[in-house]
Amino acid sequence: MYIAMVSAECAPIAKAGGLGDFVQGLARELAIRGNQVEIFLPKYDVLRFDRIWNLTKCHRDLWVPYYDQWVHCDVECGEVDGLKCYFIDEHARENFFRRGKIYGEPDDPNRFAFYCRAVLEFMYKSGRHPDVIHCNDWQTGLVPVLLYEIYQALGMTHSRVCYTLHNMGHQGVVGEHVLRQVGLRPDRLLVMERLLDPVSHRAGNLMKGGIVFSNFVTTVSPRYAWEIQHTDQGMGLQGVLQYYDRKFGGVLNGIDYSVWNPELDTHLPKPYGPDSLPNKAASKRALRERVGLEDVFKPIISVVSRLDRQKGVDLIRHAIYHTLKSGCQFVLLGSAPEPKVNELFWGIKHEMDANPDCHLELTYNEELSHLIYGGADMILIPSVYEPCGLTQMIAMKYGVVPIVRRVGGLADTVFDANYSDKPFEERNGYLFDELTPASLEAAMDRAIGLWFRFPEYFRQLRTNGMRADNSWNKPGQQYLDIYHHLRG
Ligand code: ADP
Ligand code: GLC
Repeated sequence: MYIAMVSAECAPIAKAGGLGDFVQGLARELAIRGNQVEIFLPKYDVLRFDRIWNLTKCHRDLWVPYYDQWVHCDVECGEVDGLKCYFIDEHARENFFRRGKIYGEPDDPNRFAFYCRAVLEFMYKSGRHPDVIHCNDWQTGLVPVLLYEIYQALGMTHSRVCYTLHNMGHQGVVGEHVLRQVGLRPDRLLVMERLLDPVSHRAGNLMKGGIVFSNFVTTVSPRYAWEIQHTDQGMGLQGVLQYYDRKFGGVLNGIDYSVWNPELDTHLPKPYGPDSLPNKAASKRALRERVGLEDVFKPIISVVSRLDRQKGVDLIRHAIYHTLKSGCQFVLLGSAPEPKVNELFWGIKHEMDANPDCHLELTYNEELSHLIYGGADMILIPSVYEPCGLTQMIAMKYGVVPIVRRVGGLADTVFDANYSDKPFEERNGYLFDELTPASLEAAMDRAIGLWFRFPEYFRQLRTNGMRADNSWNKPGQQYLDIYHHLRG
């Protein structure tokens, strides 16, 4: 099957969070199974060019419609870990993709709307007819809309679209000019059955467009699929998802064990696995050395996260103090897009400057993230909501015991050491329900207590997590089943 993945991110070259891992992991799984996979991305100036092989211009002079004019683009292609990637290189006055970052610009809707039109224009001009175009999140929600409103009439009738929702917290609510920019008609589309935003009437909702116009819609865990249809986690789109129930389902993400695997990870001083767990101690020492923590008999509790409200920043802050009070060490790697949150954590960082048991690294750092998974004993994920969450799955593979809030994909992957209907071999962490310090502390105390008092039992929890299969194997098959269903 010929599959085109269209996304704003792809690890390791353009990653802001789990979406990047998702595209890399699923694309690789599909390719291993013999499918032809092509990945489409904007040519950001912040791409990790050192990870792209043979970057060459493969399509010159692609003129992309823009309002009543055209924007001159080229398309470059290259290989990333054996996967074929195409990059839209625009030469617009607006410098859409040369902003020193992937997201966070006031004109993000225009930037990604332009990207959607450019990808389809490229497919059309280069005679590409993928069996399935797999789009992701609001940034690519216009792809199916453009396909059905414009490109089908030009002969692109073969492709079917699968659309994956990674985060209902960002829907791309836009003014009608964004539709006009890409050649769509607001009078046709800004109606309740199509793109009209259900909350702020008169605005367009790009994610809703993706849902309405795609042939199949998925989200990244079964529990989140239920939450967004039946609770306010749908953030206004519950009704739309219920209406399209017949083409909607949750597929739990996998993680790529060729990237996330302590037996192969070159960022760690010494490889280890479930049968050589004592070797993890070398990573713990290396982590302490790297971030300046004292080498003492204490567990390390970690956080690796975007410091977004979604991730439960208030509870993360609370956990720092509770960890130290409980005689443990704390290490955090996180970047905060919101200035207020950033300031808050910089304040704590300065306060902890001289503390040998606490370190905060307020940046994005792929390499350090690997060392933290390698060296930590527990990871904390107190999310307000979590569509899937990859850090708990990565952590488990590294023998790190997750302490998480029972929401979304966290509830689908973490099974409580004490309170679970799963057999013992499948229990792998700690869950709590309420978004309160007391609820968080109770779960942390159970985990910390076990580490100090019953190390053998704690070790078993680690190996249960390490042996769990969170690979792309099963979800890869599920996506293929969906694609085959679409090709009918
Ligand atoms: P989300 O996509 O909501 O951020 P996920 O748990 O799905 O959450 O994925 C997060 C991914 O981003 C993981 O691969 C994690 O290791 C990585 N990550 C998050 N914050 C950082 C950071 N500050 N530095 C490096 N990697 C990070
Ligand atoms: C989003 C979600 C996260 C999920 C990731 C990959 O960023 O916040 O929970 O794991 O997408 O699907």
